[in-house]
Amino acid sequence: MTERELRERDIKDAVKSRYAKAIQGSSSCCGRSVSQEGTQADSCHAPAIVEQKGGMVKIAGYDQGELSRLPADALQNSFGCGTPLAFAGVGPGQTVLDIGSGAGIDCFIAAEKVGPTGKVIGLDMTPEMIERARQNAKVVGLANVEFRVGEAEKMPVEDTSVDWVISNCVINLSPDKPAVFGEIGRILRPGGRISISDIVAQDLPEAVRQSRDAWTRCLAGAISEETYVRGLEKAGLRDVRVTSRIVYDASQLKGLFGGFCCGAGAGQDAAALADAAAGNIWSARFEGVKPQPTSAAAEVTVEAAKKGDRSAIESLLTEEGLPTDVASHLGDFLVARHHGRVVGCVGMEIRGADALFRSLAVIPDYREAGIGRRLYDALVENALRKGVQKAYLLTATIVSLAESWGFQRLARDEVPEAIRDTAQFRGECCVSAVAMWKDLTAQPSKCCSCS
Ligand SMILES: C[S@@+](CC[C@H](N)C(=O)[O-])C[C@H]1O[C@@H](n2cnc3c(N)ncnc32)[C@H](O)[C@@H]1O
Repeated sequence: MTERELRERDIKDAVKSRYAKAIQGSSSCCGRSVSQEGTQADSCHAPAIVEQKGGMVKIAGYDQGELSRLPADALQNSFGCGTPLAFAGVGPGQTVLDIGSGAGIDCFIAAEKVGPTGKVIGLDMTPEMIERARQNAKVVGLANVEFRVGEAEKMPVEDTSVDWVISNCVINLSPDKPAVFGEIGRILRPGGRISISDIVAQDLPEAVRQSRDAWTRCLAGAISEETYVRGLEKAGLRDVRVTSRIVYDASQLKGLFGGFCCGAGAGQDAAALADAAAGNIWSARFEGVKPQPTSAAAEVTVEAAKKGDRSAIESLLTEEGLPTDVASHLGDFLVARHHGRVVGCVGMEIRGADALFRSLAVIPDYREAGIGRRLYDALVENALRKGVQKAYLLTATIVSLAESWGFQRLARDEVPEAIRDTAQFRGECCVSAVAMWKDLTAQPSKCCSCS
């Protein structure tokens, strides 16, 4: 074994040993550790309000209804730092893989979402955890959950076999994160998605970074958000972003450090370390998607929206945070369709020779394949056919893209009144959006070198 392999093995053994002990009822990492003041500093789920970069936020905890249906032991032995399933994306019939599933809490929640036709695989390298999770599954009689002993860096899971990868407070513990990210890219189906909650950190005190104890407590191995996002992108995922954060304050960190963390050789106690690290350690939820291959994008058709497309368009717009008043404009909407499924849309509201272009959206796994451009081109064609000469739009996100399509910025009060009178211009959603316009009848300027 190389020195690096020995170090990685040593870290994994320490992590395994901590979790084997934790499940037997002793100390925990990101779970219910008791702070020095004797209060429960459950830094993962408990506090209702925490300080967060950019303001105070209410933590979205586990849904109480969901929790009440889980085995009590799975709750007592949850060591997570977030709620990767606190959203509606996982659906019936899908396959979910939970990396570092512990006693099974998120697997049991996922099992309910995927239903009897779906499947959940819990993966954990600590045999004691797997054993406990299996017992818990028996208690609730779940037949659609399977637990496998295995390492995140080399998962015993088939290529492109999984719709969702979830994980809760695990990847920080891995000494080889690029290998874990690579495995995620390998096992996801095209279009498959991730929702991963994990501890991230920046500028940690050296005493913490060097401590094996701190590693097993989900601290020393934590990487920055940027490194996490880059790692996942390198593994082929796209649209990788942080969708929520829980930033720990000093008293919560004291709980995580466990009162004795990292002190021995370093001469620093947990309280001082917690003060030094406060604000630099948080739990982040990462979401992202494995894109469809270009061949799938070639099968996408762009066509007029049908009546039955309305709810698909509305949910697409809701996901994008765009106005959803579609009903009365459906006749001027186009959709991108793949095997019957709406994967993108765009629309317009016509006012004489002017039109408001709006609602351009493509679902994440179909992005970067030119579908947005095809929707736009088809919209221009329709607009010209209907006598539109000038197009206007409001955008906060695609200013440069619109510029590349020939749109120019203009002051809102220069926009024709009939366009300013549309719900989008009047609505609160778009107050800070940039107004742009384009003369659709103008010929594109001729390039000098290509006659
Ligand atoms: C902090 S606990 C989280 C458990 C569970 N996700 C939860 O929310 O309760 C970390 C779990 O990940 C497992 N683990 C750590 N590193 C791992 C690795 N490299 N491969 C597989 N499992 C790992 C541990 O055995 C432990 O059960």
